[in-house]
Amino acid sequence: MMDDLFGSEPRDLPLATGAVVLGGFALPRADALLAALREVVAQAPFRHLITPGGYRMSVAMTNCGAVGWVSDRSGYRYDPVDPESGRHWPAMPEAFAALAADAATAAGFARLVPDACLINRYEPGAKLSLHQDKDELDLDAPIVSVSLGLPATFLFGGLSRNDRTRRVRLSHGDVVVWGGPARLAYHGVAPLPDGEHPQVGRQRLNLTFRKTR
Ligand code: SIN
Ligand code: FE2
Repeated sequence: MMDDLFGSEPRDLPLATGAVVLGGFALPRADALLAALREVVAQAPFRHLITPGGYRMSVAMTNCGAVGWVSDRSGYRYDPVDPESGRHWPAMPEAFAALAADAATAAGFARLVPDACLINRYEPGAKLSLHQDKDELDLDAPIVSVSLGLPATFLFGGLSRNDRTRRVRLSHGDVVVWGGPARLAYHGVAPLPDGEHPQVGRQRLNLTFRKTR
């Protein structure tokens, strides 16, 4: 009820020990994040990666930072070079790094200095199957995930694939942080419902910040 009266009031929702949704945390910086994102995408456009099993992912991806997450027939890896362009990934914008550090701190973790930011673009119908983020060498650092654009249903489970998953609605400006005992929790995104977001259009954009090494 209070939410109806004070819709923009920040709200934190614990998901598990070590995992929390910081509701609206990125909202005051959303326009700046989107402007920086546009410059990254101009240098490293979104593309649909192929999984090691040969499937084309429905989510389109790109990266910024010292290394970027890539998948192809040979497997998953962090690579300093964008395989599409043969050049290094775009540098991580200052606004991105600052948001990641501030969100990690707000969630009770030590200061995060991310070296990778995976950028996901979901168009209506796109989804991300349940998975763990485990390609990083440093599992002490949390994952910080920023949602922009259309709302999605985030699935957050436990350390084993068969554990029950919670379904959480993530909206423009919401930030999820998971680390510590929840660092290897399974998570995913349900197929994106169609819609039109006033600032972002017919899509959801997600930034995940990682410290890979
Ligand atoms: C991810 O797991 O890489 C992205 C999660 C999300 O899009 O919310
Ligand atoms: Fe993930």
